[in-house]
Amino acid sequence: MRILGIETSCDDTGMAIVEAAGPITRPRFKVVRSIVSSQIPVHREFGGVVPNLAKREHLRNLPIVSRETLRRKNDIDAIAVTVGPGLDPALWTGIEFAKRLSEDLKKPLIGVNHLEGHLYSSWINMKETIEFPAIALIVSGGHTIIMRMDSLKKWKKLGETKDDAVGEAFDKVARMLGLPYPGGPEIEKLAKSGNPKAIAFPRPLIKNDGFEFSFSGLKTAVLYYLRDNLKAKKADISSSFQQSIIDVLVEKSKKAIRENGARSLILCGGVASNKSIRSALRGLSVREGAGFYSPQVNLNTDNAVMIAAAAYLTKLRKKNLAIRSQPNLNL
Ligand code: KG4
Ligand code: ZN
Repeated sequence: MRILGIETSCDDTGMAIVEAAGPITRPRFKVVRSIVSSQIPVHREFGGVVPNLAKREHLRNLPIVSRETLRRKNDIDAIAVTVGPGLDPALWTGIEFAKRLSEDLKKPLIGVNHLEGHLYSSWINMKETIEFPAIALIVSGGHTIIMRMDSLKKWKKLGETKDDAVGEAFDKVARMLGLPYPGGPEIEKLAKSGNPKAIAFPRPLIKNDGFEFSFSGLKTAVLYYLRDNLKAKKADISSSFQQSIIDVLVEKSKKAIRENGARSLILCGGVASNKSIRSALRGLSVREGAGFYSPQVNLNTDNAVMIAAAAYLTKLRKKNLAIRSQPNLNL
């Protein structure tokens, strides 16, 4: 089945064609074409994503990206579109575009949960078998979720953040340091030349029972540190902040792997692009005897390949999501 994926939940206009086959126990995906048109330069001067600007850019980009992705009308069997979670005006543009395309081409339309896109992205181009039970960590700009997966259709959320998401904390700390948006990659770069032990920032909820996260206190701790230490090195702040995040993610993942007898650990979402975070969690998996899986790097941040792949699994699960913008959709 050839699926055209459309992703406009935040500030990336993504479209992709994916060839999907196989049963839910062993799905296979082949990426035919994928385009992501980034709006970073547009939002950068505002220090973050401006929803109505995102909408304007999606409206402008969608026809262009569509012409590049869908070269022949009969190239596809179905259309998939992100219905949530995300920014309402941004989601809306993709959904309206998808509806029209579906009518014009007379192809069925499948609504996709963006978080399932991130979750399933580890199965794209995956040659090995990911063994269950697995612990999956979704870390993005909008979400920080830890879950137990028993199969590709059965899972249980163990915990999520009570306040800021990890990516959001990276972006906010970057802003305090005067770094451009998006802050995650900038902090990662700076952290390389800093000392992760220079500053003892808090590790929120690290020893708590349960699997909830909280990162807003860590962000505030960085703010106070900056106020009181005007000469502090940005590289040390970045590196120490990143280390706090790593320690929390590693500790919670360790607890989840042990309590659930997990055989795999999956790391996905935009923050999974961070090499230090990846290698810390890979190290944990090795120590715990679990397999470590994370999508190939360009599939971590928002893209439409994961939306097309998730649409295939949504269909196999016989799940139907209403085709309307659902900004607060969860897993
Ligand atoms: O998944 P994503 O593209 O969008 C959402 O669904 O939110 O994630 C974007 C987030 C941003 O907060 C960005 O700063 C963060 O992922 N991010 C990173 C890195 N690359 C992207 N955070 C830390 N290190 C990175 N290398
Ligand atoms: Zn995302």
